[in-house]
Amino acid sequence: MGENSLTITDNRTGKTYELPINEGAVRAMDFRQIKVSDDDFGMMVYDPAFTNTASCRSEITNIDGEKGILRYRGYPIEQLASQSTFLETAYLLINGELPTRAQFVEWEHEITIHTFLHENTKKSMDGFLYDSHPMGMLVSTVAALSTHYPDSKNIFDDEVRQLQIKRLIAKMPTLAAFAYRHSLGQPYVYPDNDLSFTGNLLNMLYKMSEVKYLPDPVLERALDILFILHADHEQNCSTNAMRSVGSSQVDPYSAIAAACAALYGPLHGGANEAVLRMLKEIGSVKGIAKFIKRVKDGEDLLMGFGHRVYKNFDPRASIIKELAHQVFEVTGRNPLLDIALELERIALEDDYFIDRKLYPNVDFYSGIIYQSMGFPVSMFPVLFAIPRTAGWIAQWQEMLLDSEQKIARPRQLYVGQDERDYLSWDRRDNKAAAKEAVA
Ligand code: CMC
Repeated sequence: MGENSLTITDNRTGKTYELPINEGAVRAMDFRQIKVSDDDFGMMVYDPAFTNTASCRSEITNIDGEKGILRYRGYPIEQLASQSTFLETAYLLINGELPTRAQFVEWEHEITIHTFLHENTKKSMDGFLYDSHPMGMLVSTVAALSTHYPDSKNIFDDEVRQLQIKRLIAKMPTLAAFAYRHSLGQPYVYPDNDLSFTGNLLNMLYKMSEVKYLPDPVLERALDILFILHADHEQNCSTNAMRSVGSSQVDPYSAIAAACAALYGPLHGGANEAVLRMLKEIGSVKGIAKFIKRVKDGEDLLMGFGHRVYKNFDPRASIIKELAHQVFEVTGRNPLLDIALELERIALEDDYFIDRKLYPNVDFYSGIIYQSMGFPVSMFPVLFAIPRTAGWIAQWQEMLLDSEQKIARPRQLYVGQDERDYLSWDRRDNKAAAKEAVA
């Protein structure tokens, strides 16, 4: 088979196998031929949490964690953050190429005309408790959209699919803003289609009695950049949920609800909230030394530091740090920033963090920015879900059109009881009583 292969000897049988290597990987199914007998099922690979399993071949997002590289469709995140807009980046992620002027005008128009929600959705949101978490409301209402658009289950009809894609990108900000307004007991604000994607979101979140809401251009652009940075991150937990649930060929609203649910978890969408809590707990620059000692003694984590993939620096963190200063020019300096800056400086000079390759990640500064812009922490995962919808859709569509993909259905290593006979109530009770007597 030549150089691009892996030779394995099974010491149980002495047999040797040669498996082809493509793109740096061997196919897990190739292991199935490794058997001790004809009736053996064949060898499987065991990988809880998929830490070393490629579940797909993808052309969307490329991360090189050692070099601190993040690219969407080949374009470096730094260039997109400085020169693109969120809507253009969403088009790029979903369609594979940057749009021409004419394509962008049409795309923006199509998204804009789909921002309104059916009045019934608004009414159903009224049914949530007054203090419902906006992310819980988002998960439920995006799933409910599938009942409004029953056609959406025709996922292999390109025209139908493209319509749902536009609807989803357009309606997520409206759902998010309505959830926020509901949690405050404030009237919902309808979309203003004269405004930009993020300008309209700020309008729906913050408009009160003024006739027309005019977003601050610095905050509007800052939010747009944050959305570009959060738009995709290859096979993370929520994207994996989107692909896995979508592989059952369910409609995209239901699959997005599953992805949102995954993002709701504190290990995924909630780290920036944890950073804020940590900074508040530290209290002042004077409290940093004590906190760092606690981290080094293994009693605490420095939240917003470290990453499973980035082992040099998280390129999104550098962009966000710069952005924080621009936002504070408008909102006033968030006092937590001084603690964050000093904490970062001290940690980056400390051998504990250097040896473990721990650097600030995207969440270290994003929470401080969102807080300064007036968002409560409960809105942080919601603000993450809006842009990530573009990535989820791009990955879902790629999965649907990939002829190698099937319904996601992992295997397991069964380690439970062997076959045994059913026990009557009496025998079970006697057994339990005997066990208790021994104890
Ligand atoms: N503070 C202190 N020590 C840490 C931290 C941290 N934030 N992160 C890792 N370590 C230590 C860890 O204790 C271990 O030390 P030792 O070798 O002595 O046992 C070593 O560094 C390696 O850590 P690990 O747990 O094997 O690393 P991981 O790749 O499994 O974890 C992580 C990555 C992000 C879960 C972890 O760094 C962490 O918990 N960070 C804080 C939470 C956080 O900021 N999460 C947001 C991640 S970015 C989100 C996104 O990309 O969407």
